[in-house]
Amino acid sequence: MKKSTNEIRQKFLNFFEKKRHVIIPSSSLVPYNDPTLLFTNAGMNQFKDFFLGQKKSNHPRIATIQRCLRTGGKHNDLENVGYTSKHHTFFEMLGNFSFGDYFKKEAISYAWELLTSQNWFNIPQNKLWITVYENDNETYEIWKNIIKVPPERIIRIGDKNNLKYNSENFWQMGDTGPCGPCTEIFYDYGAQILKNSLEFLENKNNRFVEIWNIVFIQFNRISKTKIISLPNKCIDTGMGLERISAVLQDVYSNYNIDIFQKLIKNISQYTIIKDLNNVSLKIIADHIRSCAYIIADNISPSNEYRGYVLRRIIRRALRHGHKIGIKENFFYKLVSNLISVMGDAGDILRQKQEKIEKILETEEIQFSHTLDKGLKILHSEIEKTHDHILSGKTAFYLYDTFGFPIDLTADVCREKNIKIDYISYESYKKKQREQSNIRKKFYKNYNEDIIVNNTCVFQGYKQYKVKSLVQFIFVKNVSVKKIMPNEDGIIFLDTTSFYAESGGQISDIGRLYNEESCFIVQNTKKYGKTVGHIGKLISGIIKVNNYLYSEIDRDYRHSIELNHSATHLLHAALRKIFGENISQKGSLVTDTHLRFDFSHHKSIERAQIQQIEYIVNMQIRNNILIKIKELNLEEAKKQQAIALFENQYQSIVRVVFINNFSIELCGGTHVKRTGEIGLFKIINQSSVASGIKRIEAVTGQKAIDYLHKKDNYLEDISLFLNCNSFYIKEKIKKLTVTITDLEKKISILQEKENISHIKQLIKNIDYVQDIKFIKNIFYNYEHKLMKKIVYQLKKELKNSIIILININNNHFTIVIGITKNLINDITAIKIMNIIMKETNGKGGGKKDIAEGGGVNTKKLSIVLKNIKVWIDTQLKKNNYL
Ligand code: SER
Repeated sequence: MKKSTNEIRQKFLNFFEKKRHVIIPSSSLVPYNDPTLLFTNAGMNQFKDFFLGQKKSNHPRIATIQRCLRTGGKHNDLENVGYTSKHHTFFEMLGNFSFGDYFKKEAISYAWELLTSQNWFNIPQNKLWITVYENDNETYEIWKNIIKVPPERIIRIGDKNNLKYNSENFWQMGDTGPCGPCTEIFYDYGAQILKNSLEFLENKNNRFVEIWNIVFIQFNRISKTKIISLPNKCIDTGMGLERISAVLQDVYSNYNIDIFQKLIKNISQYTIIKDLNNVSLKIIADHIRSCAYIIADNISPSNEYRGYVLRRIIRRALRHGHKIGIKENFFYKLVSNLISVMGDAGDILRQKQEKIEKILETEEIQFSHTLDKGLKILHSEIEKTHDHILSGKTAFYLYDTFGFPIDLTADVCREKNIKIDYISYESYKKKQREQSNIRKKFYKNYNEDIIVNNTCVFQGYKQYKVKSLVQFIFVKNVSVKKIMPNEDGIIFLDTTSFYAESGGQISDIGRLYNEESCFIVQNTKKYGKTVGHIGKLISGIIKVNNYLYSEIDRDYRHSIELNHSATHLLHAALRKIFGENISQKGSLVTDTHLRFDFSHHKSIERAQIQQIEYIVNMQIRNNILIKIKELNLEEAKKQQAIALFENQYQSIVRVVFINNFSIELCGGTHVKRTGEIGLFKIINQSSVASGIKRIEAVTGQKAIDYLHKKDNYLEDISLFLNCNSFYIKEKIKKLTVTITDLEKKISILQEKENISHIKQLIKNIDYVQDIKFIKNIFYNYEHKLMKKIVYQLKKELKNSIIILININNNHFTIVIGITKNLINDITAIKIMNIIMKETNGKGGGKKDIAEGGGVNTKKLSIVLKNIKVWIDTQLKKNNYL
């Protein structure tokens, strides 16, 4: 009986337990504390410090089954997935490790015993071949003399390109880190007996599969050119579970092992494709595994780093789903089957199933909006390419506008034998990065680097105007004694009524003044423990040690407060509706509106938006007195005050109570009673990132203004449609029906017009040699219709060349059609190229049909005059007739 993959996993562990190894769990796919590594790519990663001698392991012998991902960095298999039988993004690696305990002889003997012993995997010995690092004689001798492998089946592999240690038999974790020579065991899938190493090398990439790599970790690579010896000699072995399963289940492709067959079958129910060897099915089966495990290890799709790897894999899988005609959101539905298929290794997924499904579903919904559109564009651009190269501009456009990762675009291109102009793609990306850096710099406070050593007492919770002493003045980032009229600068005071931007609340504006001078404060920012008043002096001179009044703009502050208190009400309402698990992810409180980001995986229905507005407005109408207390953190927690998990709080915290409805830690400023807010209206909701929703709202007069604006808008539309505003929908429905009717009528008329054109053109037919030749110029016709005429003529007239031109204002378009019998002698694209060359236009197409256009109508008329002669010459050249 063949062993299932789940049994093989268990057998491996049993074997090494017998050999006194301690079994420890797989580490996360996200390497702990190792910035050199994107994802865990080998069983040895979690033991890096043990190998390097920086930490000591409690157990000198360990065995693991490690989740691995090879999608970037030194080991990257993403592109191969689906196209070879042996590559995966995600795979499980069986490994045994020795930290200064056993070394070469035991490691090799263990591997040989497990693979070949009748009690274990029972692989015939003559099916196994061995490679060793070229000058590693010790290992060679062990295989030959102790294990008794015939020498013709032990192959020495040296360095490539004369670079030391640049060999398949010298394993390195990454650009730096533990490394050493290795010996690999290959399984021979062939039937015919091979005799020597030469034959092995010739066949290495197809009939032989590397199943086990035994690395003798002895070195640490510390830079590209420097390798140093390690204090202990260690063993790191790795055997891909999927590969050994394929061997033991007597199948060649990993995709034919039990696990993958079950996954592929399950996926196939969503498509009409029934061939289980379909590449897209394999890719999806591979990708659902990597995506589910990455999310289980707490990574969410994003545009950066690990999150972007995840996003790229998800999107690639979705594209393959699209390719095999899957119409519904399907990817997240594969998770439950995956969990059951993976046996013990599925436990970690089971614990996080809901989260994994939600994240995948959200990402799928989000991407499905752009996938279809982007693919249409990509396919049409591919059609247009002349040189089998997709421009960097298109690849970048797809990336920037439709969220197409470059490897998704490359995947589509690869199927059509098209290459991408990566250099130009990268330069577009670079340009975009530079522009965004410029923007960032622009928005960054230009004075952020100033260091000021004083403390400013904020009195603005209670007072709008306080008397303050000028302690420092900065002009152009330099500390000065005085500031002159019309100069921009920053003034630091001992005490202030100005709230400095923080906790999402924007800063106050106002003025600093005394009898002689006035400084307009446009912004207020925190600088350590003090506050910088940023602005311009409009009159007088202000000097250090002057006394001033710091007075805020009260109306402006009040508008901010409406929005801040409304934000608390909104936050509480969201928790009431969506549950206490939603958490704040960002907030902006300004004088004009508020914005609140929070974690929530599902989309928000219109009814829910109205419910939120209902709850918040109810609290506003209740006109609750807002109480603010200073409590110690423990007490605040007891009151179940909402706090931001990421924030570090002082031991005494400020808590804002709106009855029991909302209790929240907050340093901001608020209205006295909720009634002051007047009205709360949500004006927008969106999704800012996967699983993060954004609500934008207005309050007070701004909310009324917003409703008025909407009213006016409706009123204008109803005037325009000449109906009451409640009948707009009906009216538009009727108009749509009328338009569809009219479009149908127009298209019938156009057909008729086209038919009469066709008749006319046939009547005036000309000849080049014995070929029917039609050339005609239309004015202000539709290109689409003209194209139809060409297709129709091509069908009706055998042996013909048709060139139709449409001149519209100052530009022209052309369609050229040639019947297929002629394409060996002359092609549509060739004629098009000639016309385009002369007119400086742009065109493309195939041998029998081509389209193009340009603006130089003068040159066009010249080239058209001569085109018949040119065609005639071409035909003669090609010995037509
Ligand atoms: N680290 C080696 C590999 O990944 C053996 O485990 O192949």
